[in-house]
Amino acid sequence: MSILFNESDGVFFLNTPKSTYIIRVVDNKYLSHGGWVKRISSWSGQCVMPLYGRAFAPVPQELCGRIEYSLDVQPQEFPGYGHGDCRDSAVEVLSADGTTVTDLYYNGYRIYKGKKPLEGLPATFCKEDEAETLEIDLLDKVSGLAVTLSYTVWNKYDVICRSVSAKHTGSSLELYKGKPLVLRRLMSASLDFTGSRYRMIQLSGSWGHERHAIVRDLTSGIQKIQSRRNASSHQQNPFIALEEYDATEDSGTVYGFSFVYSGSFCAEVEVDQYNMSRVLMGLNPDTFEWKLNEGESFTAPEVVMVYSDQGLGQMSRTYHDLYRNNLCRGNWKNKPRPVVINNWEATYFDFNAEKLFALADTAAKEGMELMVLDDGWFGHRDDDTTSLGDWYVYKDKLPGGIEEISEGIRKRGLKFGLWFEPEMVSPDSDLYRAHPDWVLQIKDRDFCLGRNQRGLDLSRKDVVDYLIEVMDNMLGSGLIDYIKWDFNRTLTEIASTMQSPENQMKVGHLYYLGLYKLMEHVTQKYPDVLFESCSGGGGRFDPALLYYMSQCWTSDNTDALSRVAIQMGTSIVYPASSMSCHVSAVPNHQTGRVTSLNQRGHCAMAGAFGYELDLNKLEEAELAEIKEQVATYKRIRDTVQYGDLYRYECPWNTRAPNETGSFGAWSNVSKDKSQCVFTVIWTYAEAHAEITVIKLRGLDPDATYNVQGPKEFFDNVKISGEELMNVGLYVSPHPHLKGSLQLILEKI
Ligand code: DGJ
Repeated sequence: MSILFNESDGVFFLNTPKSTYIIRVVDNKYLSHGGWVKRISSWSGQCVMPLYGRAFAPVPQELCGRIEYSLDVQPQEFPGYGHGDCRDSAVEVLSADGTTVTDLYYNGYRIYKGKKPLEGLPATFCKEDEAETLEIDLLDKVSGLAVTLSYTVWNKYDVICRSVSAKHTGSSLELYKGKPLVLRRLMSASLDFTGSRYRMIQLSGSWGHERHAIVRDLTSGIQKIQSRRNASSHQQNPFIALEEYDATEDSGTVYGFSFVYSGSFCAEVEVDQYNMSRVLMGLNPDTFEWKLNEGESFTAPEVVMVYSDQGLGQMSRTYHDLYRNNLCRGNWKNKPRPVVINNWEATYFDFNAEKLFALADTAAKEGMELMVLDDGWFGHRDDDTTSLGDWYVYKDKLPGGIEEISEGIRKRGLKFGLWFEPEMVSPDSDLYRAHPDWVLQIKDRDFCLGRNQRGLDLSRKDVVDYLIEVMDNMLGSGLIDYIKWDFNRTLTEIASTMQSPENQMKVGHLYYLGLYKLMEHVTQKYPDVLFESCSGGGGRFDPALLYYMSQCWTSDNTDALSRVAIQMGTSIVYPASSMSCHVSAVPNHQTGRVTSLNQRGHCAMAGAFGYELDLNKLEEAELAEIKEQVATYKRIRDTVQYGDLYRYECPWNTRAPNETGSFGAWSNVSKDKSQCVFTVIWTYAEAHAEITVIKLRGLDPDATYNVQGPKEFFDNVKISGEELMNVGLYVSPHPHLKGSLQLILEKI
């Protein structure tokens, strides 16, 4: 049993394999947080926040007869607003009395095996014997607001998944009876740490520069990341971690918080006057409001919390395993992902059947397995100014239609994939002309275009139904093996012609409920199709979309050196199988930089691998190298996609900056430890550079490995796992390496 309730002390213990999460019911009224700590087997009840009287601390009069007990001083489990706790709250509700004061009392609990789905929302899932769930009820007696906190505790992982629902249960008091409540804030997780000696890690950036890890010390006040773009965003990923000061990549305590949602969110840590740190994560209260009439309820999306006592690396590996096994779905979730050739950077909008087949011919000879026809095949789209929404074939460009292209590509031995951007519409399109009311908009206000397009109003049922029909028509043909689902602008004027003014603040979230319904339909009906999400690269690389589409285009920036930081940052939460990574042409189209094919190949092999360049413009020698890369990837892809990741040097590594300039180094180790792929990419190489020793991790110490690398280095040498891990490999950016080193280690 992973969840225990000690009735006499009023304490819940949530035990993962290595951690214990403690919740205290104080005097049968308030829910206090007792710590998330290394696992304990007994509890004296003495190690709790003492009741010191604190100057200026507001004390609820009804409470416990203890004048020292202030909600402002004690660690809370799910703090409300205005009744003592003056820190940021987890819940805020406008009641009929015109205030947002809440006073949530403990009102019972349930424990059950397994985990319930969150209706209409993506979430992790499990079999009954994989986890246990605790639900705790809270009630604000005055307004009738009931809150249910849900904690799923996993048997195998150091993971607790949290979600919250709020219900208007009605009030018998005259002022409140029959009146609605307005939810202004309902955070999915709230966690009070008794201390502030933590570093906060966030994944931040911009288009072409996504998920760069930023590490900072916590300090007094609020440190917050958020998105108000109605997308999880390029700018901030819905993730933060807190690591203790002595934590490293491999040791020390780290707590991860990952929000399973694709829209606007916020995550903050408030360090208060006594250096306690409150983590809050959930729907962004700035962009959200939800009216609840009596009897109505609202469920907020899930936060996945990971505990690691072996540093950031173990936290990442836990997320990878959980997300691969208990979040991703579809028949591709555990299958080797195909090597892709995508025509985007090869042709952009300028293609025809002949060019596509020429590309497919070469791709097939190189051993590639799936060809994606990207943007430009529909309406009359020759650039990004038109035709989104007109999902019928551009006959002037492709007179034989998708049938000819799909059949032609399949005949050449490749699977066929197609690009869509279903959530968008171009003002120059038949769809927009027929349904101008179908876009997000505010009557009488000017609107913003982004990449010349507008966002469809997916809060409307008719729009979602229409898109279901469109996707069914395309996928029902059986011609498509893969879909790239793009989303290329920040949404603005987030309002709907269908909603009354008092409900407009719901539209952002309703949009995602509509999108999730659409994606649920499409992905469940066509489980054999491989779905890849995309948003101008990685603008919606979040766990919620992984629930539907098990891979995502990592970034529009395909420069190998830029990609080191992007991919290593992404790997903090997301598994390699979900990171789509392609080799592109040089000079790189985004940075103008020239990198070696070696570097480009080794870097892209860190994820779901592919190419997007005109293979027919390459020299024979380059094609030969690519053929070798494809063959190598096929040999290592199970290990990369489904093994364990160990990071050694990261571009953000402030703990041990390397002096050779800068490099990224990581290894992927198969679950049975029989194969290991070790990669180093030098993002800056110095002549006569320092030699760095990297002690490998995750190998079998008792085994001997055959180590195969470039001829000059490790040409099929035999080394024990113990030596590789305890003595380590000596690496430096020798010119022969052309900027990167890949070693394949195989157990003999
Ligand atoms: C943005 C994507 O990230 C690119 O890969 C490409 O599909 C373009 N959109 C097409 O418009």
